[in-house]
Amino acid sequence: MDQKKNKKIYIETYGCQMNFSDSEIVASVLTDQGYTTTGEIHHADIIFVNTCSIRDNAEQRVKKRLQYFHAFKKKNPGLIIGLLGCMADRLKTVLLEEEQLLDIVAGPDAYRDLPRLLEQVESGQRGVNTLLSMEETYADIMPVRLGSNGVSAFISIMRGCENYCSYCVVPSTRGKERSRDAGSIIRESRDLYEQGYREVTLLGQNVNSYQWIEGDNVLSFAGLLGRVAEVSPMLRIRFATSHPKDISDKLLDTIAAFPNICRAIHLPLQSGSTRILDRMNRNYSRENYMERVEAIRRILTGCTITTDIITGFCDETEEDHRETLSLMEWVNFDYAFMFKYSERPMTLAADTMEDNVPEEVKERRLREVIDLQQKLSYQSNQRDCNQVCEVLIEGDSKRSADYFMGRNSRNKVVVFQKTNAASGEYINVRITSFTSATLLGEVVHELKIR
Ligand code: SAH
Ligand code: SF4
Ligand code: F3S
Repeated sequence: MDQKKNKKIYIETYGCQMNFSDSEIVASVLTDQGYTTTGEIHHADIIFVNTCSIRDNAEQRVKKRLQYFHAFKKKNPGLIIGLLGCMADRLKTVLLEEEQLLDIVAGPDAYRDLPRLLEQVESGQRGVNTLLSMEETYADIMPVRLGSNGVSAFISIMRGCENYCSYCVVPSTRGKERSRDAGSIIRESRDLYEQGYREVTLLGQNVNSYQWIEGDNVLSFAGLLGRVAEVSPMLRIRFATSHPKDISDKLLDTIAAFPNICRAIHLPLQSGSTRILDRMNRNYSRENYMERVEAIRRILTGCTITTDIITGFCDETEEDHRETLSLMEWVNFDYAFMFKYSERPMTLAADTMEDNVPEEVKERRLREVIDLQQKLSYQSNQRDCNQVCEVLIEGDSKRSADYFMGRNSRNKVVVFQKTNAASGEYINVRITSFTSATLLGEVVHELKIR
């Protein structure tokens, strides 16, 4: 075999689930060419860092990591270092030319080109491709599941984003929104099921705007979700992320119609103030958001609702901040990801608004938001106590091989003492207590319910 094709690739991934899913596409493109992957950095001939630009601290972390890899390369001449993902286009000049840290830079739509870029490096040049595409969805590529538990897998159903939330870098790093061929998504779900997987998460920046047109047929996200759910009642379906502006009743009705579509919706709020939501270009108001939450509660009893919050966006006043806190309480979120605003280049906010909330105010507001959410999450776990839920077993608990971990339909992690059940099976568990991130329970009876 071609010497260079025997090389081992180590991929380190930052950012969102989409990026993790992309790393699996990268692994697939390259293993098809005879490269192999390794989880051990010291065995690697090629290191890829799949990067995230969402907040400044995400980029700083990657830059530090690249310095470390660079030092590593000095001791291992011949090692190839490549930067992939959302930082690629923005930072290629400085990282490639000024700091000379990299051999390869490839953007999110250029992964099919990696074999060629690697060959360029072998011949003594640098390999760069950060072109964004209008069509690329990697529909025909069967991802190589990296670090998989063999039970749950990600499936990308669309790429890019055109919502242009004013704070957000994603439309500039990932380009135009495009939906992936529905047939290929359903095939991938079926293949995974046949391989023993029991849960798929359909991924996109705003899955509600998924649309696939075939002849006279228009398949919406609700339609796609139903088709994937029909693969098997034993296959759980999750999805992320839903934009509050277009989570329709039709979608909620579809979830209600299939017990295997999970009762967990991630619905990023960002702010509870309509004035700030307008400035963020989110296209919904506080009242619209409340109305959608009421619809979820009406149609999907017991559904978990989780969210994302940003504190200290441009011009946010104490009054706006209090509106965020009061709406968080009103919704009673089960869980939240909370951030302080970080100005990003090439966004509407960076171009037209002043990042005028002082750092210490952003931080104090973030603290208040986190404290409130801790209280709400505690209450959410308390409500689960004494309830019996169906858990899909994912494997051993991190703490002890005597315990299994899995998740219930509502996306909560459940840990319980092992029985003779196995990974990938469903089992009934009664919740007896909890820690901040985990529900603890006991198997109700050995009978598997599905
Ligand atoms: N597509 C998803 C979000 C993707 S980014 C959606 O629309 O909800 C994940 C989260 O990062 C966002 O929901 C937001 O809360 C946060 N985020 C994005 N840009 C940010 C910024 N500039 N500063 C702080 N947080 C940000
Ligand atoms: Fe960013 Fe908004 Fe697109 Fe989400 S919907 S990725 S926050 S622009
Ligand atoms: Fe980060 Fe890109 Fe995802 S900026 S959050 S890796 S889409």
